[in-house]
Amino acid sequence: MSVGIAILHVIGASLWIGGLVALLVAHKGMDAGSIRRVALASTAGLALILVTGLINAGKYGGPDAWFQMGTTPGRVGEKLISWLIAAAAGGYAFHKLPSQQGSPRAQALLVVALLASLGALALGVMLSRGA
Ligand code: HEM
Repeated sequence: MSVGIAILHVIGASLWIGGLVALLVAHKGMDAGSIRRVALASTAGLALILVTGLINAGKYGGPDAWFQMGTTPGRVGEKLISWLIAAAAGGYAFHKLPSQQGSPRAQALLVVALLASLGALALGVMLSRGA
């Protein structure tokens, strides 16, 4: 991964995961406007992760190689699936929380998004070590 793109990828991951954690622990004490602002910054991070990740995934071949699960290039496909799960779960929670603070389903989906993102992070560390 080129250094600049790798840094942007990690900044995106920090924004996204930081936003999820902030909303998980603190959304009940926040007003709807603040929840929306954190969710927006977090979503910008999610988009940045995808763009920078795809730019660099080229070095592991194309979609044919990315979906050979269990191989090193297959980590890219595993990361894409984790990203999709995180985006779907986080997106639902971000839409629900401003109007329904404390919604058990939205909170559970924040946890799902966080776990899927930590999975993608672990796969990224494995990839960058050639595993
Ligand atoms: C929530 C989602 C994601 C998180 C938290 C995440 C996080 C990370 C982290 C921490 C690294 C290691 C950086 C380093 O050690 O330099 C990494 C590497 C990487 N990620 Fe992601 N990532 C995510 C999603 C994606 C997606 C969707 C793609 C592309 C489809 C992607 C492609 C890559 C690639 C190609 C590498 C570099 C491997 C290398 O150095 O050769 N990531 N990611």
